[in-house]
Amino acid sequence: MIENWEVFLQPYRQAVEELKVKFRSLRVQYQRSSKHTPIEFVTGRVKPLSSIEEKAKRKKIPLTEIENRMQDIAGVRIVCQFVTDIDAIVEMIQSRNDITIISERDYIKEKKLSGYRSYHMVIDYPVHTIDGTKHILVEIQVRTMAMNFWATIEHSLNYKYRGEIPKDIKERLYRAAEAASNLDEEMSKIQGEVREAQTIIQERQENHRESFKNESSGGTV
Ligand code: GTP
Ligand code: MG
Repeated sequence: MIENWEVFLQPYRQAVEELKVKFRSLRVQYQRSSKHTPIEFVTGRVKPLSSIEEKAKRKKIPLTEIENRMQDIAGVRIVCQFVTDIDAIVEMIQSRNDITIISERDYIKEKKLSGYRSYHMVIDYPVHTIDGTKHILVEIQVRTMAMNFWATIEHSLNYKYRGEIPKDIKERLYRAAEAASNLDEEMSKIQGEVREAQTIIQERQENHRESFKNESSGGTV
């Protein structure tokens, strides 16, 4: 049995916080170097206790085994602009030596029946605690903004209808998923143009930052 949930969940919170910092910092580095950033934004959460208990019950996982068998207690989501950014993010994660990949599922090549699309990875992430290193499973979801928009809406409806969305709405959602996929495809055709424009904007911002820094340090000399 888990005696103290806050103690149990603390390394999960730490893992989520650390990974958010690491991925967000990559975004900043890309921006500073005026390169196209495959990372638009990063979110993360630790599953609320009520959801952990509900899922354990539903999947018949004894609470003593949730550490190994519930792989999404810690969750991080990386959202990008273009479908090709997903590959770049996945490769970046695969090449890191602070992350060990446990499993990967490509729900883009093989979308779910609902229409859901995303790239999922379960990773092993070491967290350094006062009791030594603790290995935490983290689910990373990588998706475009269009995929994220759809998944967020569908998730709300699932919540509202407690997992039983009426047939007509389900069909509409499926069509919306197709539309989101078409949007991704159309955007990918002009991604060169978009990247160029964004690079110009980033360079301008960077120059502005530099000149501002020079001005303010000039004042103190
Ligand atoms: P759970 O779905 O979490 O019980 O575990 P699982 O082992 O079936 O994993 P799966 O890869 O199917 O889903 C993991 C997570 O992906 C979910 O918790 C959701 O965040 C997301 N997800 C999967 N399918 C859907 C879907 O049809 N709609 C939405 N909105 N999200 C989904
Ligand atoms: Mg599922």
